[in-house]
Amino acid sequence: MDKFVVRGGRPLYGTLDVSGSKNTALALMAAGLLADGKTTIRNVPALRDIYTFSRVIKVTGAGVEFDEADHRLEIDGATASKTVAPYELVKRMRASFYMLGALLGRFGKARVSLPGGCAWGPRPVNLHMEGMEALGASIDLEDGYVVATAPSGRMPGGVFELNPSSVGATINLLLGAVTASGGSRIDNAAKEPDVVDFCRMLQRMGARIDGVGTRTLEIEGVDALSPVDWTNSPDRIEAGTFMIAAAIAGRVGETISVRGVNIDHLGKPFMDAMKGTGVGLSIDGDTVAITRPTTLKPISVRTDVFPGFPTDLQAQWTVLLACAEGNARIRDTVYLDRFKHIPELRRMNMNAIVMDGEVVVEGGRQLSGAHVMSTDLRASVSLVLAGMVAEGETHVLRIYHLDRGYERLEQKLCAAGADIRRVSYDEWADPEME
Ligand code: UD1
Repeated sequence: MDKFVVRGGRPLYGTLDVSGSKNTALALMAAGLLADGKTTIRNVPALRDIYTFSRVIKVTGAGVEFDEADHRLEIDGATASKTVAPYELVKRMRASFYMLGALLGRFGKARVSLPGGCAWGPRPVNLHMEGMEALGASIDLEDGYVVATAPSGRMPGGVFELNPSSVGATINLLLGAVTASGGSRIDNAAKEPDVVDFCRMLQRMGARIDGVGTRTLEIEGVDALSPVDWTNSPDRIEAGTFMIAAAIAGRVGETISVRGVNIDHLGKPFMDAMKGTGVGLSIDGDTVAITRPTTLKPISVRTDVFPGFPTDLQAQWTVLLACAEGNARIRDTVYLDRFKHIPELRRMNMNAIVMDGEVVVEGGRQLSGAHVMSTDLRASVSLVLAGMVAEGETHVLRIYHLDRGYERLEQKLCAAGADIRRVSYDEWADPEME
């Protein structure tokens, strides 16, 4: 297994480049399977989740070629014929469940393993299944698999209200609805940038979708979709992570640039919270320049669906609050108890506690290096950020979580002044024997 050894106290400088969005790319890849031909997706990050989903797609018989250096991924849906997504792959990544919609939309049937739990909670898929039934699929559960069939090979379409609004369920239902024999409506649909970009690609493929970017999506099914050449958006969560890194680990008064940012994708509450901390912040095209102030102000946040403060940035924000002067709180309204990183951060001398469903963070305490465990993707990166501002050495164990979603993270941060080494280790080695 790999770990990161982070030596703290090395100030960041220069420019951090943002890769293509992982979450959007996964949805775009599922869309690629709907066309009977070769779809090209550009600006795809070379990440473990992308390789996993490529393997899931290949099980159908479709061709997948990924030019990592060029970040170009091609999906040839012409050879797809099998309608299965096996447990061995779905258990590695929940977004594999997009195969339910992709296979129903393309072939009118699907046998997709149910994803298991998740590091920070149950994360159900009930809306995906109930929604698909509302669009006209019959759904059965067999041996841990969802077996879905559309009558006479094509779903008729229907109306479904998502409660709560769900990114994944919106994407899955769209995959099924765009080739239905009739019309559909999704109420309380997600309008995260990932969903909007995905809808735009589907429209380019020939799908008829109204209301893109709003809470109500109206879809008129079409007979077939065409392959397209599409460019993925930058990763908004990586962008936000780098902006937080710049705010806490830059030298006071010096500017760090984060390049390849779509500010609109970050949402106003995140940008307002950043400005509220007192950092200098200027935007020039797709580059955001962050200047660290003498002291950071503690800004409490509450995550919410887009355009709310992203849940995928709250663990990183905890570290920023620990570097601020004063106390502040974080509440996650999307995943109520996504706080597995707190006990690990406490091992680094952070005073943060979970109380009544929110985290209270004391700012201004010097963090210190420790051995800490990654528990999920965003929790892991918060440990790396904490290590960068801690005194001494931090060992972030189990970084396979991090490799799912941050492309060449240590290389990018080291090129900007950080000191992070990737080291292989044996998790079960007896300490006395080392
Ligand atoms: C996506 C993102 C993830 C992000 C999350 C919220 C991908 C691959 N992942 O996950 O990084 O943290 O959005 O922005 O894009 N829910 C149900 N029933 C369902 C589905 C969801 O109750 O069938 C609930 C969830 O428990 C959660 C809320 O809906 O409380 C939102 O989850 P959802 O938007 O579905 O998250 P994902 O699409 O899984």
